[in-house]
Amino acid sequence: MWALPRLPSLFQSRKGEVDLTLCHSERNVGSQRQLQPGSIGLRCLRVLAVTTFLTQICPLRSARADNGYDAWLRYAPLTETERAKYGSFPAAVIVLNNSALLHTAEAEFIRGVRGMLGRTLRVEKGVPQESSVILGTSAELHSIGSHLRSPKNLSADGYWLAKDRIRRHDCIIIAGSTDRGTLYGVFALLRKIAFAEDLSHLQEMQEPANPVRWVNDWDNLDGRIERGYGGRSIFFADGSVRPDLSRVSDYGRLLASVGINGCVVNNVNADPRLLAPNFLPQLARVADAFRPWGVRLGISVDLSSPKSLGGLDTFDPLDPRVRSWWKEKAIEIDHLIPDFAGFLVKADSEGRAGPSSYGRTPADAANTVARALQPYGGMVMYRAFVYDHHLDWRNPKNDRARAAYDIFHPLDGKFEDNVIIQIKHGPIDFQVREPASPLLGGLEKTSGAIELQITQEYMGQQRHLCFLVPMWKETLDFDMRVGNHPTPVKNIVSGRVFHRALGGFAGVANVGLDANWLGNPMAMANLYGFARLAWDPNLSSAAIAYEWTRLTLGNNPEVDRTVDAMLLSSWPTYENYTGPLGAGTLTDILGSHYGPGVESSERNGWGQWHRADHDGIGMDRTVATGTGYVGQYSPEVQKEFETLAATPDSLLLFFHHVSYTYRLKSGKTVIQHIYDSHYEGAERVHEFVRMWESIRNFVGDDERYESVLARLKYQEGRAIVWRDAVCNWFLRVSGIPDAKSRVGQYPNRTEAESMQLQGYEPVDVEPSETASGGKAVVCRAPASNCAASFHFSGAPGTYQLNVQYFDQNNGKAKFRISLNGRQLDEWVADDTLPNAKLGGDTSTRRQIRGVTLHQGDEIRIEGIPDGGELAALDYLEIEPVSK
Ligand code: GCU
Repeated sequence: MWALPRLPSLFQSRKGEVDLTLCHSERNVGSQRQLQPGSIGLRCLRVLAVTTFLTQICPLRSARADNGYDAWLRYAPLTETERAKYGSFPAAVIVLNNSALLHTAEAEFIRGVRGMLGRTLRVEKGVPQESSVILGTSAELHSIGSHLRSPKNLSADGYWLAKDRIRRHDCIIIAGSTDRGTLYGVFALLRKIAFAEDLSHLQEMQEPANPVRWVNDWDNLDGRIERGYGGRSIFFADGSVRPDLSRVSDYGRLLASVGINGCVVNNVNADPRLLAPNFLPQLARVADAFRPWGVRLGISVDLSSPKSLGGLDTFDPLDPRVRSWWKEKAIEIDHLIPDFAGFLVKADSEGRAGPSSYGRTPADAANTVARALQPYGGMVMYRAFVYDHHLDWRNPKNDRARAAYDIFHPLDGKFEDNVIIQIKHGPIDFQVREPASPLLGGLEKTSGAIELQITQEYMGQQRHLCFLVPMWKETLDFDMRVGNHPTPVKNIVSGRVFHRALGGFAGVANVGLDANWLGNPMAMANLYGFARLAWDPNLSSAAIAYEWTRLTLGNNPEVDRTVDAMLLSSWPTYENYTGPLGAGTLTDILGSHYGPGVESSERNGWGQWHRADHDGIGMDRTVATGTGYVGQYSPEVQKEFETLAATPDSLLLFFHHVSYTYRLKSGKTVIQHIYDSHYEGAERVHEFVRMWESIRNFVGDDERYESVLARLKYQEGRAIVWRDAVCNWFLRVSGIPDAKSRVGQYPNRTEAESMQLQGYEPVDVEPSETASGGKAVVCRAPASNCAASFHFSGAPGTYQLNVQYFDQNNGKAKFRISLNGRQLDEWVADDTLPNAKLGGDTSTRRQIRGVTLHQGDEIRIEGIPDGGELAALDYLEIEPVSK
């Protein structure tokens, strides 16, 4: 196997300059750390130098094998110095009641302390006879010491952590408003120990900002997961609930550790069979697995169930038989699952049945189901993702973004109190950048929840590093100016602004059976971040990144600084190499939503239009000349978006149609911004690889390190695929060249079709911008192996060879590359990318670093097809390595 040579210097760019743009300074503000970009070059350099030095001399703390299963709950042993802070930590734990939740809390606490401090706590009963940790509700605590009161009455799920003296003994108190609150307090204290915080003055009260903190998992009964990228379902297989639900219990533990209190376990495109009498007892087993963790079970339901499952001739929500059917169903469920959380409803959307079939409104439907659940405390999360996907694209007034507000705003106040309207954070569909959905500010007499997508459907599907917390924060902090008062979205969904008892967050999680839950350990930062924001939306992105990194990768400051910098810049980076200026992600919306597919948004009814043509790009959504969407915001917000002058560059093309030569506030033209941002994005991912490699010895040479590295290298190649596809599409359509002469000009590339071919034949790739020069070569029967070769004619030196090939998912083709007959590298194209075709989903890069070349050397790439996979090649790039 080809050994990779060590890089000469960290963060070195291709031009040999040290790039500091990803470095940040840090400032500690209370417990939250804030990052400030810029100005800190020297400090960053120092960090890097220290990193290199320390990796050579320090003992490795986290060299143990880790497959990511424990995520942020690793409870890795603290260092000796850190442990020394806990010299007087109590040896006993006292639990004040006998509930299942408190047993869970006790066991978790003992487990965490054993892992991190290496001590096994004794379990005692009654009043403390020695220094102890006390777990119980505030009321129970009061019974063992009348002076023991939290500073104020805790609201539901809140907790109080304190150091206090009880009967002359120093004790640590973990007191919840309820048992669930106590469990949350246990996890919070364990986090403090993981951060090696000093507990001598412990005094903290925490209450969740949002009553509803749910995840949604889009699992199908056959075990596949809609938009799931972490393996098959942990809940279902072959049409039934899995016999072994230990993974579900471990998922419940992960969720509880960050305060999630509900989980909807099946696809929003719901299968009516879930409600069948023989299926409900199976669901009860899932609820049982979650219950010890305080996570309530919910399910998605298909509104046509009374007909498709129940045998009625209608599912009209106002038909009395339909109402009775839902009531009976609720009784049946309550009998089996007394703490049932409720139903999630997707209706009249993307082909799902809904009340419109009977001329009824979403309120009619939601209320029928909600009334059935009311006696048992269940909720209905009714999704506002209702739109017509057969819109006439020729009509410039049509606009999918308007749909949720147009449909739900007139119904405000018409919903039962246990109905929550679940609203996607943007008006389209989890694109790389969207404005906050106007509906979030458009319901004053109805409870709402914001729907965020943790699974990275449009964000690189967990193969790309893309930390979404900064994006979510932009929406949560967005001021809707309702009544011209400060009304950030986070205060609306929590229920605070309009005094709603319910409200909160729903996050589409889609964990799977992969050992690390989401298929990529780094993607777990999004699950963690979602939950932390649901608990406290005022946490900064930097604070969340900091917590997650330390819990997941340890307290090493170099790891923390490096990984935080990667996380915090990863969303803007992803945006840079995909969809710019609010135009949408520019992915193939008709296929997998993964690779580039600029054209796919246009000339169809899905309404994800960016309207790019030869002259310009963008959707005119203004009131004056466009679709009128801007008018759905409050008058103050309208002023931010109605005019070109006021609209921020980042959302320009979402709101306005402009020419390619329109000058942005940055001073660049739109077209030059498109080119530049794509090159910048791809360059950043290159730096991510170097940054991760720089902390190798701190992360430990374990499974996690290698799997993250492999993903980052893959992303490095994919960012170039995206860059080239998008830039070449715009070059072709606009006819305006790149002022920096990069787009369409690749002096280091040799196209496969221009090499000497043995067995390989050239083919056109569609869309053409997804292959260099629009062509690739394929190895088709009767050939069973093929080769493409050429002679190097450049300057002698050391190079990196980048082989661009296509990894289709219908076979496992083999590749081999050799230099003058000596093999440099070989690999198998065995990834399961979401396509069997050559194109934007499958184009993949293999890098071979440190190859010395002389003029006339023969480079030969051999391909052996397998199944339907044709060992297709696009080009070879010979990239000079800077000294
Ligand atoms: C997206 C996604 C679908 C999903 C839908 C939804 O469109 O691609 O798979 O069903 O969102 O949120 O309902």
